[in-house]
Amino acid sequence: MTKRVAIIGAGPSGLAQLRAFQSAKDKGASIPEVVCFEKQSDWGGLWNYSWRTGVDEYGNQCHGSMYRYLWSNGPKEGLEFADYTFEEHFGKPIASFPPRAVLFDYIKGRVEKSGVRDLIQFSTIVRDVRTAKGGGFEVTTRDEVADVDSTEYFDKVIVATGHFSVPNAPEYPGFDQFNGRILHAHDFRDAHEFSGKDLLILGTSYSAEDIGSQCWKYGAKSITVAHRTTPMGYDWPDNWQEVPKLDHVEDTTAHFIDGTSKDVDAIILCTGYKHHFPFLPDDLRLRTANRLASADLYKGVVWTKNSDMFYLGMQDQWYTFNMFDAQAWWVRDCIMDRISLPTRAEMAQDVVDRVAAEDAITDDHGAVEYQGAYTMELMNETDYPSFNVEASNQAFFEWKKHKKMGIMEFRDHGYISPMTGTKAPAHHTPWKDAMDDSLESYLEI
Ligand SMILES: Cc1cc2nc3c(=O)[nH]c(=O)nc-3n(C[C@H](O)[C@H](O)[C@H](O)COP(=O)(O)OP(=O)(O)OC[C@H]3O[C@@H](n4cnc5c(N)ncnc54)[C@H](O)[C@@H]3O)c2cc1C
Ligand SMILES: NC(=O)c1ccc[n+]([C@@H]2O[C@H](COP(=O)([O-])OP(=O)(O)OC[C@H]3O[C@@H](n4cnc5c(N)ncnc54)[C@H](OP(=O)(O)O)[C@@H]3O)[C@@H](O)[C@H]2O)c1
Repeated sequence: MTKRVAIIGAGPSGLAQLRAFQSAKDKGASIPEVVCFEKQSDWGGLWNYSWRTGVDEYGNQCHGSMYRYLWSNGPKEGLEFADYTFEEHFGKPIASFPPRAVLFDYIKGRVEKSGVRDLIQFSTIVRDVRTAKGGGFEVTTRDEVADVDSTEYFDKVIVATGHFSVPNAPEYPGFDQFNGRILHAHDFRDAHEFSGKDLLILGTSYSAEDIGSQCWKYGAKSITVAHRTTPMGYDWPDNWQEVPKLDHVEDTTAHFIDGTSKDVDAIILCTGYKHHFPFLPDDLRLRTANRLASADLYKGVVWTKNSDMFYLGMQDQWYTFNMFDAQAWWVRDCIMDRISLPTRAEMAQDVVDRVAAEDAITDDHGAVEYQGAYTMELMNETDYPSFNVEASNQAFFEWKKHKKMGIMEFRDHGYISPMTGTKAPAHHTPWKDAMDDSLESYLEI
């Protein structure tokens, strides 16, 4: 009997999995029967922008956390597909920090070319996964358009639902009385909403940096960022300040733990996301912090408590699309019995070792190298086209340096493709002046 494989989610990770199976088929291999369930009506995951916040048209939690005017925050040289380069897709070298629409187009280009769309059931949410008697899984889905539930048997389940969709939203004293808007980054859509406003941002990671920068670019009056650990420490524009942790809010005044205060119109919680799998029972559900070495996943992908279950893309991410590819190719080979798994104890030890190796990292360079090495490790155990991971690491290191030099100018730099060796041209307009982020404007077509 042909094995049946369920992939949950058609974002970059789920699409990488579909592409991995298709690539084996193209080379003449007999592949399992693959079904991908996607709750949205189109593919691309977070890159499939939606104006919606809260719940979607069917009352399910809205997946999208992307906002208008989002440009890649890391260089594209750190995420390029090894089997489908930017140059192949766009027919020319392009600049290093593409806006969302350009990256969405690139993601779609590869899967359109490989013809895997028919394997995806859109507008179909996975509602429940259970281990079946005798092995495998009962997967219950709802076709939201037909409004019908069905349960099917699968030998293997691959969870590719992402982990930047369900907000971690802390409450601070006085929030319930605040006379302004409080929202999480997940619900942020258009920086114009905050033009002319005094804005307080909580958090110091990528959402805080980028949402603050967007709002600054589109005319916020002032940006105040409160840190609970350490400030970001960039050379910010004059109307941007970093302050210690928020203590409480009174009316529209935010009070910080050093006794200072600031009147603000809105508060944006850039406080991260939760790994959240409401469709999984306790024995199958990943519980992990947002880190490079995820808990309970052998090689970062195999659920150590039931090795018929896999997770993709659950790590914190420097590397993204090509790391998801390396994971997807590896999972494919595991499912197709090209790779055999060690004992459960050895798998558990692998997790312990990876966690210890991550804990020994002392800085961001070390973290980039760690994830680059992890990507290479998986890639080398499959037929995923090998690429120059060191060149990608270098792009990340240069990027970090350029951010220190000018936080509003770093996107004006270009890096060398690890796939083609071509240096990216500068974009035609400095990022801070480029108000039109459409694909047509970016590519000058
Ligand atoms: C605001 C923001 C900006 C980012 N910017 C960048 C960037 O510039 N560069 C970069 O490389 N990375 C960026 N990322 C990281 C991002 O995680 C990856 O680029 C990528 O989208 C992860 O792909 P994924 O497939 O793992 O998850 P997702 O993109 O989240 O896709 C998961 C898919 O699963 C579907 N799904 C969820 N639950 C179910 C269910 N129960 N049933 C069926 N389908 C389901 C969702 O609808 C979605 O389509 C950003 C993340 C955020 C939040
Ligand atoms: N343009 C872009 O491409 C773009 C834009 C935005 C986001 N992203 C991506 O989105 C992903 C998620 O990034 P993220 O910044 O949302 O999450 P994140 O990296 O997990 O960071 C969460 C932040 O929230 C802070 N925090 C958590 N709980 C808090 C609390 N109770 N009070 C105050 N602060 C708290 C953390 O502070 P501590 O340090 O103190 O723990 C940390 O600074 C990343 O992969 C990122 O690259 C990309």
